[in-house]
Amino acid sequence: MDSNETIVTGQIVHLRKLSKKMMFVDIIANNDISDSQSEDNNCLRKNLVFKFWDLASCMWDKTNRGDDKLHHGDIVQFHGTWHKDLFSVRDYTFINKWSDISKDNTAFKPIPPINNKHKSTQESNIPCKYFVNTGKCETTNCAYLHETNSKKLKSSRNNYVQERIQRRILEHEIQFDDESISSEKNGLHPATKRCEEFTNWLVNQYGDDYLRSGIILDVAGGRGDLAFELAVKRGYNCQIVDPRPQKLKRWQVKLLKKNPDLKSPVHHTRMFDKDFFQNVNLDVKDVKLIIGMHPDEATECIIDIGLLYCIPVSFVPCCVFSALFPNRRLSSGDQPTSLPEFIQYLCEKSSNIQIKSLPFIGRNQVLFSMPNSNNFYKEGET
Ligand SMILES: C[S@@+](CC[C@H](N)C(=O)[O-])C[C@H]1O[C@@H](n2cnc3c(N)ncnc32)[C@H](O)[C@@H]1O
Repeated sequence: MDSNETIVTGQIVHLRKLSKKMMFVDIIANNDISDSQSEDNNCLRKNLVFKFWDLASCMWDKTNRGDDKLHHGDIVQFHGTWHKDLFSVRDYTFINKWSDISKDNTAFKPIPPINNKHKSTQESNIPCKYFVNTGKCETTNCAYLHETNSKKLKSSRNNYVQERIQRRILEHEIQFDDESISSEKNGLHPATKRCEEFTNWLVNQYGDDYLRSGIILDVAGGRGDLAFELAVKRGYNCQIVDPRPQKLKRWQVKLLKKNPDLKSPVHHTRMFDKDFFQNVNLDVKDVKLIIGMHPDEATECIIDIGLLYCIPVSFVPCCVFSALFPNRRLSSGDQPTSLPEFIQYLCEKSSNIQIKSLPFIGRNQVLFSMPNSNNFYKEGET
């Protein structure tokens, strides 16, 4: 704990998530809570920031999911440090939740900061995202466009939703692109090279003959970078399993065009689950390895199905999704909520799971089992 650490307490009047790395919270400090719903409160506000890269890895889940999720109107004690006018939060505890304070269950009306630059008299052409989504905007002097033509509003809304979906899907890739800037300095490869590095490691670990002896399933392959490395560049029979369709990069399209003998990998556009083999008519015996790079919700399926059918697995876990899987328990009885705890949880499934670190920045721990080693569960498991 920092020796300058202090506590600020107040009611959350505005929450702003910039990305998975940063969230801003505005509070009206304790004494001034009676004024919090007043419009003229800019001078009473305190600006807080969560810098998730500086915090314990469970903090993202804590602030965004489950019982400790922060909501507008909650009265919270924040622990952290002041840097000029901005308070960096390390942790927090609830004094009172809005759901308990609000007598008639009305939602707390968020109070966005009054932004002087929005007071321009000339309306912007950029649609107001609140108006696009809800048909109303409560921002004082909002300078964004409030489209009144219902056809145009509908098309703005469709565009907004599509962009948001795309942004979410790409969040991962963008995050890694950012990191690649600093990567050269610490000797690790940039995260954009993660699929290449994972492929090199797989070939070293399992050997060329083994990988050529059957099918490699790339579960949650996303846009297909890992399978492209294995199938197109190395000639293995690597097949993607992901409901999200493959999207080749420009250099990949060029490479395929230049080399008509090369084929892009087979893609099973469906979820991976225990019925997968039957549904796609694949003989389990032909599958030699199940792999996954940052496979999100499919992570646990990979290990469970590998163990169920005695297929070696090799995957690099990433997000935990503890709210989606509330029944997971460590041997200690605790719910795994951070990545290290999730990795521990996965390793506790079988003593044949090993861990190594791959040489790229970002989430780079590979959990893997070797052929003929994963056909037993831990003692006591069925
Ligand atoms: C973070 S992306 C990873 C993409 C890619 N492996 C990479 O590293 O760039 C996670 C992917 O998991 C896929 N996914 C989630 N659950 C799945 C499941 N049960 N079976 C197959 N794919 C799944 C999503 O569609 C998404 O494309």
